[in-house]
Amino acid sequence: MSIKPHGGNLINRMNLSAIVDLSLNYVELDNLELSDLELIANGAYSPLKGFMGEADYHSVVHNMRLENGIPWSIPITLAVDDWEINEGETINLVHNDTVYGVMEVKEKYKPDKYVEAKLVYQTTDSNHPGVNKLFERPEFYISGPITLIRKPEKTMFPSYYLDPIETRKKFTEFGWKSIVGFQTRNPVHRAHEYIQKSALEIVDGLFLNPLVGETKSDDIPSEIRMKSYQILLENYYPKNRVFLSVFPAAMRYAGPREAIFHAIVRKNFGCTHFIVGRDHAGVGNYYGTYDAQKIFSHFTEEELGIQPLFFEHSFYCKKCENMASEKTCPHESKYHVILSGTKVREMLKNGEHPPKEFSRPEVVETLIEGLTEAYILH
Ligand code: ADX
Repeated sequence: MSIKPHGGNLINRMNLSAIVDLSLNYVELDNLELSDLELIANGAYSPLKGFMGEADYHSVVHNMRLENGIPWSIPITLAVDDWEINEGETINLVHNDTVYGVMEVKEKYKPDKYVEAKLVYQTTDSNHPGVNKLFERPEFYISGPITLIRKPEKTMFPSYYLDPIETRKKFTEFGWKSIVGFQTRNPVHRAHEYIQKSALEIVDGLFLNPLVGETKSDDIPSEIRMKSYQILLENYYPKNRVFLSVFPAAMRYAGPREAIFHAIVRKNFGCTHFIVGRDHAGVGNYYGTYDAQKIFSHFTEEELGIQPLFFEHSFYCKKCENMASEKTCPHESKYHVILSGTKVREMLKNGEHPPKEFSRPEVVETLIEGLTEAYILH
């Protein structure tokens, strides 16, 4: 039997045969909101059935729980200008002139974004990409149950988009009882591979679930990353123990809070375990290296329902001639091959190869090729 979804039931708010009523008032969703709409509807955000109302929003921001006490760490909201929408209306949810869903508007409320930034992102600095996005959104939130009536188009790698009900079915077919989820917004480097494979020593299967929704502009685009994942899996992972599909959410860069959110969502996709390494979902120096692990102590294992697997900062050690961490390596840091994400992205964009102890050469080739093409096309 597969793991229970968060809150007990997998939510399904899809009605793809519904007829569009163009006479309704509408709001235009941005990329983040459109991806949230789909993820609410397909049950990835179970138990949410719509964008959050004020009581849930307040409770999530302050206590990391929905009003009914169920853990939830990131507000899922729909922002509008005051004049746009009134409470009680049924509205269309539109993106680029296409209606993707409808919503019964229950509430319109004004959030305190400063408090949201401080508590969710731990900073009000608008240089933080998540905070910047928050402050740029319109001033009011509207809430209410949604129905998805059309799935957003998937032009790139369409076969890698699976709803939670489909990933759960796959895991059952594979006969996997324990499944570890892996979130990433980056190419898989040696440190990622090391922690994934360490986890694979103790569970049945690895669910490689890269985030492909909106990311900040200097992160490596998902279409380029996808090729690198495929190459890596083909050459270095046992075929029957890894499953790759994508997570279409936007990145919030909320560090610890986002780690909890990422874990809960992977539970809904059917995972029993979830990897949290160093500075999970972090950006710049806003979070401590292990804050995203420490935050799990706010919840009991039972109420979270998915077991986090924590990993130390991993690296290649030239003395050990192996991947290692402070837990396993006795040597000085001068022997450790450590590169920051920013440095690696810079090297790749300049066509330089990071050392093979950091990233597998096949992966580097794919990334440089993809980035060069993207650069030429722009
Ligand atoms: S994230 O923003 O999606 O979390 P990233 O793709 O860098 O970013 O990381 C994916 C996962 O691997 C996260 O759990 C992160 O903590 C972990 N991780 C990344 N690099 C390392 C490393 N060198 N050592 C240990 N864990 C790492």
